Amino acid sequence: EPSGAISAAEGAGVDGVADVSGPEVPRFPGGFLWGVSTSAFQIEGAVDEDGRGPSAWDAFTARPGSVKDGSDAAVAAGHYHRWPEDLALLRELGAGAYRFSVSWPRVLPSGSGAVNGPGLDFYDRLVDALCEAGIQPVPTLFHWDTPQALEERGGWLERDTARLFADYADTVAARLGDRITHWVTLNEPAEVTLLGYGLGQHAPGRRLLFDALPAAHHQLLGHGLAVRALRARGARSIGVANSHGPVWPLSDGETDREAAELYDLLTNRMFADPLLLGRYPDEGLAALLPGPVADDLKAIGEPLDWYGVNYYQPTLVGAPAPESQAGEFAGIGLPGELPFGIREIPGKERTGSGWAVVPEGLPETLRTFCARYGDRLPPVMITENGCAYPDPVHDRERVAFLRAHLRALHEAVAEGIDVRGYFVWSLLDNFEWAEGYRPRFGLVHVDYQTLERTPKDSFRWLRAVLREQRGSS
Ligand code: NOJ
Repeated sequence: EPSGAISAAEGAGVDGVADVSGPEVPRFPGGFLWGVSTSAFQIEGAVDEDGRGPSAWDAFTARPGSVKDGSDAAVAAGHYHRWPEDLALLRELGAGAYRFSVSWPRVLPSGSGAVNGPGLDFYDRLVDALCEAGIQPVPTLFHWDTPQALEERGGWLERDTARLFADYADTVAARLGDRITHWVTLNEPAEVTLLGYGLGQHAPGRRLLFDALPAAHHQLLGHGLAVRALRARGARSIGVANSHGPVWPLSDGETDREAAELYDLLTNRMFADPLLLGRYPDEGLAALLPGPVADDLKAIGEPLDWYGVNYYQPTLVGAPAPESQAGEFAGIGLPGELPFGIREIPGKERTGSGWAVVPEGLPETLRTFCARYGDRLPPVMITENGCAYPDPVHDRERVAFLRAHLRALHEAVAEGIDVRGYFVWSLLDNFEWAEGYRPRFGLVHVDYQTLERTPKDSFRWLRAVLREQRGSS
């Protein structure tokens, strides 16, 4: 019974947290899109069902030592079977939009060629049900689960993967396009490049350091070609979801400033510049990329309808130092060979996974974008923001985190920055990649033994905020 878990938790009362009165979160403009995000590999499970092919993440998690708790995503949150229950949660929350990802290997088990009907049917049903519930479906076409058949041929290091990605985009758009307003092509290509191909901490587990850069270029090219394919299918509104955050130099010293600039170049500008300006931020960098880069940039720079920012925390960067190797950012220990080191940001609260809580980093990021890209910056959506805390249900910290970030975001809106939406990561606790199941990012708790869903206090809090935002707009 889909709504059982909700009503059970409903009456529990949350010591005032549930009763939001007054403008705890200032009012956002009318039409602002309020949503939550998930991704296929992190929630679906059912990796061998209905003809799905293996992804690079199935192969990676099968390698001993790749995931901290030794887990895989064979079951994950069981969303593939429990999606009606999750839809009921979205309705209960009052979400205006739901950002999910389509699993490429579910639709095309070997990455190209024959379409797997049941795989596409799954998303078709989900999209229908969302529309019926008045919730906008916002599909992401690539959220890291590259078909393993393509990965075995080099994955994103190969130019052909970009072309095949556009074919896949076309296939999905042909089926779902009539009901989709906002499309997302890629999710966080910077992480795939750095963690997946550069450092080997994510799938496909390659440790190529700077030789990973072609994976960035080919993802961006795949994006550009997919934008064209989607538009040819009549897509109205296309964006991309990139992770961005302020990069703070450890000191005013020249070496720290240079290291921070390089880090900013590789994680922020390397991705945003080609998408928004149609060029790479640095000639030397562009020279390291394969293929007819100047031509490719025309596709990559196809104008976007909006730009998605996933915001979590700033990064404090200095010259490499012995301590930096022990330092961790998003679970990354950087090898000494890299020309920068990441340090812990001092004097800030931390989330359960050790990330610094810095709400003001969100408007700072948006201000930097406005300054850098000016007229070339389309409207922005915050496609992810959230935090991991262990508390199973009474997650006051998450409430405080979200409230603070929404207030900070509203400052940016009040300054005139054109922000059109905000999506919380995540609806459900889920498989947090190489960190396994320990970090819990959900507004809804998932019991991984029974797969029972229990809304947390933050779910009720957000529901109240959304009601209030809708109230008189
Ligand atoms: C970014 C990624 O898009 C998502 O998959 C991940 O779970 C969250 N950040 C939290 O790390």
